[in-house]
Amino acid sequence: MTRGLGSGAAGFGAAGFGATGFPDVRPRRLRQSPAVRELARETDLLPRHLVLPAFVREGLTDPAPIGSMPGVQQHSLDSLRRAAAEAAEAGVTGIMLFGVPAVRDAIGSGADDENGILNVATAAVAAEVGDALVVQTDLCLDEFTDHGHCGVLRSDGSVDNDATLDRYVLIALAQARAGSQLLGLSGMMDGQVAAVRHALDAAGFQDVLLLGYAAKYASAFYGPFREAVDSQLQGDRRTYQLDPGNRREGVREALLDEAEGTDVVMVKPAMAFLDVLREVREAVRVPVWAYQVSGEYAMIEAAAQNGWLDRERTILESLLSIRRAGADVVLTYWATEVARRLARG
Ligand code: PBG
Repeated sequence: MTRGLGSGAAGFGAAGFGATGFPDVRPRRLRQSPAVRELARETDLLPRHLVLPAFVREGLTDPAPIGSMPGVQQHSLDSLRRAAAEAAEAGVTGIMLFGVPAVRDAIGSGADDENGILNVATAAVAAEVGDALVVQTDLCLDEFTDHGHCGVLRSDGSVDNDATLDRYVLIALAQARAGSQLLGLSGMMDGQVAAVRHALDAAGFQDVLLLGYAAKYASAFYGPFREAVDSQLQGDRRTYQLDPGNRREGVREALLDEAEGTDVVMVKPAMAFLDVLREVREAVRVPVWAYQVSGEYAMIEAAAQNGWLDRERTILESLLSIRRAGADVVLTYWATEVARRLARG
């Protein structure tokens, strides 16, 4: 009556072989057909789970390709408007805008100038898509400073946290005035959520949402993004972004952002930090978003171009895995493409 491993203590009990000599428990029953697998599926990926990050560069008349991110472009104002309309049409729920200015300075003046590229682009996109997309803006200094850091510097070259908060407040007000509905606080300065929230509320922008990049790691996976925004950075961001070895610290940052009143917290990058994502999901009660960053995009595109990975399946699996780990929403450069594919079924 014993079959295979069925004899001995391990063979009996809840998950072993019963008196019949057959497995008592057959998980494969739930995998037998496409319809049964649909019933058994735990995690969904839908267009509404996707936000498209997009770059707009001052002075461009035609979009410019980004070499390390095949398929992604620096947009002109016109091509950005079209990309936003296409994303909305595909069912994507938001667009996160990054500006690439023509001129930079030490304090990133272009970021809070109402004629600065990001603010101009925000107004243009908001006019184009109305309520069909949640129009979102990166609130940081790195694209606008001539030294490439996310904050302003002291004379010794170190990043001055509290002086940077004063800049973030002005940028937040400029972005809200331009029509941004959600500000992505990606600079990793202490107290940034509280500072920006108070300033927005005092100016009558109570409904502008905040996305706190709570657990943002000092990651090598941002490499291609630095090309995308023409980053001027020398050195690194390790005095403000998190050490990739630290999980507890990521959770601590998320709890702090929640306490400061953020509407959403972010974990970034996504795939190399799925454990952090899961733990943050369990620790906070606000929505948790994850950013599938430029290096994650580039790796899959490069492998697919070499014929080493099935591009479409790998993209879907990567996004599903980020959702499974706990992300309510994923920022991904594939947002429009994937939303279209999901809509086709
Ligand atoms: C900083 C910022 C970065 C990214 C988004 N916001 C880069 C950095 O911290 O150096 C990276 C996004 C990506 O790699 O796709 N404002």
